[in-house]
Amino acid sequence: MNQELLRTPTQDGELSVVVSRELPEEDMQPLWEMIESGFAALNSRSYDKQSMAFDEFLHDVESPDVLKYVAYNQEKVPVGFLTVHAGLEGVDWVDKEMVMNEQAEVDPTAASYYIGTLVVTPDVRGTETAPSLVRAALRHFRDTNEETGQDSLCFFDCAKANHPWLARFVRGMARPTADFEGIPIKIKEIGTEYWAEDLTDEDLANTGHVIKKVRTLPDDSAHYNVVDEQHFYSIQVKKAA
Ligand SMILES: CC(C)(COP(=O)(O)OP(=O)(O)OC[C@H]1O[C@@H](n2cnc3c(N)ncnc32)[C@H](O)[C@@H]1OP(=O)(O)O)[C@@H](O)C(=O)NCCC(=O)NCCS
Repeated sequence: MNQELLRTPTQDGELSVVVSRELPEEDMQPLWEMIESGFAALNSRSYDKQSMAFDEFLHDVESPDVLKYVAYNQEKVPVGFLTVHAGLEGVDWVDKEMVMNEQAEVDPTAASYYIGTLVVTPDVRGTETAPSLVRAALRHFRDTNEETGQDSLCFFDCAKANHPWLARFVRGMARPTADFEGIPIKIKEIGTEYWAEDLTDEDLANTGHVIKKVRTLPDDSAHYNVVDEQHFYSIQVKKAA
């Protein structure tokens, strides 16, 4: 499967977005460099690393269960990358119970997906690249729903540094414009995880300043210090009625 989803004129020529389950060999190096340079600023502002490690990148690249959406510029150089895990089996960085509870409540029969990465090269920030990538993926979800007769429920998470901006950005990209038909979606924030420093006397005496990942915070805010937050969302794309 290697399908062009979108082609659009830009100031510098043309941009296209292609989805595949297997990446062309020559894209690997530029995509890895994009992850490293594109996430550098966000990683420096987040407690937990927001980008994947090289072995995770290789796994995603090689896995047919991971959809790879690549935006190419006029010269066919990759300038944007979005990965989506089809099914939750390979998604090992999240609390699956929270995600599955949400699925049971919102749309138990929907096909589940999880966004792994969304990044563009720093030099194309603020251009049509990121909107085109997101719109192409939404179109692909809509078309897949039509083919399978099933709704899609796609999860993602983001660091505090991108909250609540990222969800608003995706919501905005789904709306119709002059050259985009618009895809009806529902985005819902489903949970938060905290990186919190335990400040109880007992903990400080026993273990020092330990930072732990927790789902709920103690009632008394004197007993902890929130170092960072990770926010979890679902995007529902329903099949046409
Ligand atoms: C996420 C990403 C792909 C979006 O692409 P982009 O080209 O920056 O998107 P846009 O420029 O269209 O952003 C839209 C607006 O949001 C703003 N914005 C971007 N990141 C923001 C943030 N973290 N917080 C608040 N606003 C932000 C932009 O300045 C822009 O504002 P403007 O329209 O008023 O100029 C890109 O910023 C990126 O690669 N970021 C690093 C990786 C990342 O954060 N990935 C998200 C998954 S955790």
